[in-house]
Amino acid sequence: MNKLLEVKNLKKYYKVGKNQVLKAVDNVSFTIYQGETLGLVGESGCGKSTTGRTIIRLSEATEGEVIYQGKNVHKLNRKESKAISKKMQMVFQDPYASLNPRMIVRDIIAEGLDIHGMYKGKERNEKVYDLLETVGLNPMHANYYAHEFSGGQRQRIGIARALSLQPEFIIADEPISALDVSVQAQIVNLMMDLQKKQNLTYLFISHDLSMVRLISDRIGVMYLGNMMELTTSEKLYSKPLHPYTMALLDAIPVPDPDIESQKEKIQLYGEIPSPTNPPPGCVFQTRCLYAKPDCFLEKPILKEIEPQHFVACHLYSKTALRQRKEKGEQFYKFIDRYGKKEINEHIVSWEN
Ligand SMILES: Nc1ncnc2c1ncn2[C@@H]1O[C@H](COP(=O)(O)OP(=O)(O)OP(=O)(O)O)[C@@H](O)[C@H]1O
Ligand code: SF4
Ligand SMILES: [Mg+2]
Repeated sequence: MNKLLEVKNLKKYYKVGKNQVLKAVDNVSFTIYQGETLGLVGESGCGKSTTGRTIIRLSEATEGEVIYQGKNVHKLNRKESKAISKKMQMVFQDPYASLNPRMIVRDIIAEGLDIHGMYKGKERNEKVYDLLETVGLNPMHANYYAHEFSGGQRQRIGIARALSLQPEFIIADEPISALDVSVQAQIVNLMMDLQKKQNLTYLFISHDLSMVRLISDRIGVMYLGNMMELTTSEKLYSKPLHPYTMALLDAIPVPDPDIESQKEKIQLYGEIPSPTNPPPGCVFQTRCLYAKPDCFLEKPILKEIEPQHFVACHLYSKTALRQRKEKGEQFYKFIDRYGKKEINEHIVSWEN
């Protein structure tokens, strides 16, 4: 697959208070391939939106690079910036707040076209009608105000606006979380349909792990500004390797109450530490059941443990894997840090 976008060592720090620095995104790297959907998940405040906003340059990066089709997005001149802004668009969480209440739908959708001086008069109208139909709305809706629509319809308008400049890449930041459950699936289906027809690439940000699984080819799990695990959806759900991912997935309730009550849960204890004062070593060490001395001293780096499976955790360091191989262990048994429970077993290839 072709790389569309590469995020390299991206940092976004905010100055807060007198002398404090808030590390919203702290050295995150990943690649997005053409035509795929990369899901980004994690608890509130872990830096998902900041990552999206910094990629598209709604916020300036503190450090790091965003390479889009070989060009560093953050180092373009004005003309190049304008050209690339057509290719990358964003769909926002709140379809109530993100649409201007004083504008009719026609002008909301055509805003990008107007900024780029594309289409006038009749052609502009035709384009708006086309876009409305593409997202499942009626051309007569063009003269209405956003407040006259339901949440799902408003999100369709938001998507039509994002599509107006024929983008290649869309960052969708929690596009369904403000919607009723029944409408969420409709919007996800619309996005998947559009992706196929228009060969779009998505970064899909969400804290809803069930929805993200539906739409994503690969998923990245963030915690306190860091990428903890990145792999295919299939692997993430069938064989999560990072203790944080395991706990997150275990928190999704199973619809069957019998299974749910018997499930042995890996719980997430304690609060997320403040991003102004992240813990030393692994940022997850304060809540991790499997923390060992290394975890308090050294920050684990995101590494490819198995093909297409990246994990930032000392449990999978070369030394740890070698020691287990020497002991002849076939399975990785996760024993919690208090030595009480063996919770999960995984086969991890020794070769890496
Ligand atoms: N403009 C800002 N100034 C200072 N701190 C900020 C700013 N924007 C975000 N933050 C902080 O950066 C951290 C990451 O925020 P971000 O909005 O990226 O999280 P998120 O993962 O999108 O959370 P949510 O799921 O709630 O949307 C949070 O601690 C947040 O308070
Ligand atoms: S590095 Fe240590 S503390 Fe961090 S997730 Fe892995 S085992 Fe837990
Ligand atoms: Mg957010």
